[in-house]
Amino acid sequence: MTLDLTPDQLLSTTRAVRKRLDFDRPVPRSLIEECVDLATQAPTGRNRQRWHFLVVTEEAQRRAVADIFLRALPLTTGHPLTERDAWRMNYHADSTERVFDGLRHLAAHIHRVPAFVIPGVEGRTDGAPVAEQAGTWGSILPAVWSFMLAARARGLGTTWTTAQGPLERELAEILGVPHDDIMLAAFLPLAYTIGTDFRPARRIPREHVLHWDRWEQHGSGPDR
Ligand SMILES: Cc1cc2nc3c(=O)[nH]c(=O)nc-3n(C[C@H](O)[C@H](O)[C@H](O)COP(=O)(O)O)c2cc1C
Repeated sequence: MTLDLTPDQLLSTTRAVRKRLDFDRPVPRSLIEECVDLATQAPTGRNRQRWHFLVVTEEAQRRAVADIFLRALPLTTGHPLTERDAWRMNYHADSTERVFDGLRHLAAHIHRVPAFVIPGVEGRTDGAPVAEQAGTWGSILPAVWSFMLAARARGLGTTWTTAQGPLERELAEILGVPHDDIMLAAFLPLAYTIGTDFRPARRIPREHVLHWDRWEQHGSGPDR
């Protein structure tokens, strides 16, 4: 059973769900399998399909993975922001505060999340040229987003997080993943959503991001 959503509704209402995750309702394995089947319809460079999806539902593994999420949190927030990043993040009032509020809620309940999905890709890009990075990341991230869309269509919610990153080696060990061969690409909490009504997000307007024929900036920063 999927929700009655048009393609445009699905694309515009698949939100980062943190506060409306139903921690008490298990997610059937068959639904996750369907999402993976749809995810693997995504494109990959040379059709190499080097993707993997690690799904964690077992109690002890969930606890270990949730611990990694919590320990990674303070380590993931240190990236420097440019002035324009800050301007974009706050283009709509209190959007940053809402993200952090949601994240605090998720962190407080992370041990109750019924499933974690950790996608990985064969081949590491540590120190690789940008072209190679683009090929590798571009061969897993579309599939991850497809997974999230497929989940939303089934009444499930996810949040893209990069909690796999800071402690990747330790997480790989817990999951039995050969770290030298596989990069873990994201860390998605997965649960049924509480209610299924989600709205399109407010984003910075199109004129700040759409460029026709050449790079011309039209008010795309704080002082433009
Ligand atoms: C690359 C990437 C990393 C993200 N990392 C986190 C994260 O570590 N924790 C989190 O709660 N949300 C994370 N998010 C979710 C974003 O905060 C979210 O997509 C954004 O605030 C917009 O919200 P929306 O997707 O509901 O419109 C991440 C999203 C992306 C694409």
